[in-house]
Amino acid sequence: MDKISFDFSNRTAVVTGGAQGFGLDIAKRFLKSGGKVIIWDIDLKVLEKAVKDLNNSNLSSNIVDVSNFKEVEKCVAEITKKSNIDILINNAGITGPTAPLWEYDIDTWKKVVEINLMGTFNCCRAVVPNMIKNNYGRIVNVASVAGKDGNANASAYSTGKAGAIGLTKSLGKELADKNIAVNAVTPAGAKTRILDQMTKEHVQRMLSKVPRGRFLEVEEFTSLICWLSSEENTFSTAAVFDISGGRSTY
Ligand SMILES: NC(=O)c1ccc[n+]([C@@H]2O[C@H](COP(=O)([O-])OP(=O)(O)OC[C@H]3O[C@@H](n4cnc5c(N)ncnc54)[C@H](O)[C@@H]3O)[C@@H](O)[C@H]2O)c1
Repeated sequence: MDKISFDFSNRTAVVTGGAQGFGLDIAKRFLKSGGKVIIWDIDLKVLEKAVKDLNNSNLSSNIVDVSNFKEVEKCVAEITKKSNIDILINNAGITGPTAPLWEYDIDTWKKVVEINLMGTFNCCRAVVPNMIKNNYGRIVNVASVAGKDGNANASAYSTGKAGAIGLTKSLGKELADKNIAVNAVTPAGAKTRILDQMTKEHVQRMLSKVPRGRFLEVEEFTSLICWLSSEENTFSTAAVFDISGGRSTY
């Protein structure tokens, strides 16, 4: 099937967690659509491989831990010396281990929330002033259906993603009088490396809840991200876009 083409020429996008999985596919499609892309990740090895494989002069990368505001702020300052940041995809995330809340390791619980929620806050906090100055921005926060429904034995992840949804609704309204859109997306399971962090039984349980009866494909996810990140999205903001194959009906 031919994909709809989007025009991202003259646009610069930061994609967090862009070294693999959803983020890498988004980076590829933005590059293919004429955009400049900066991928941020904490995994040096996969990041180097991604940059080498893509081999594209419109692509650059930084090792950034999104849960560390100072690192994020420093990177944003470097980028905005040369260019605006038009698009921010807050995609970096971890699920953490599968465990009931009353057995969950305290530091691990905090870490999962720090990355999924504070990481999203940190990147928005650092990038939005540039978008306001430029009166242009498209932000997409990658949440999860877990943030809407709550998955058993994934309380930290569900909480972090629910927080990212709340942040989206609030920030979207704060910026609604400008040409800046802030939206969240809530995918169901897709076969990326993130699934390795959960037990097989947990992944199977997630899949059994999806009326489509299959995993989401990364390219299907990227299609939704493209429209939300494009100039064509002139009205939708502070909203949550579902891509859970019918699991979540709100
Ligand atoms: N794949 C799924 O089933 C699924 C479902 C719902 C939501 N999501 C969400 O989609 C997003 C992308 O996940 P994915 O499936 O592509 O997973 P993935 O593990 O393939 O990719 C996530 C990337 O984020 C990076 N990352 C992790 N912590 C980071 C940090 N602190 N700073 C910077 N980078 C960091 C990782 O190194 C990795 O490259 C995540 O937010 C995830 O929660 C995934």
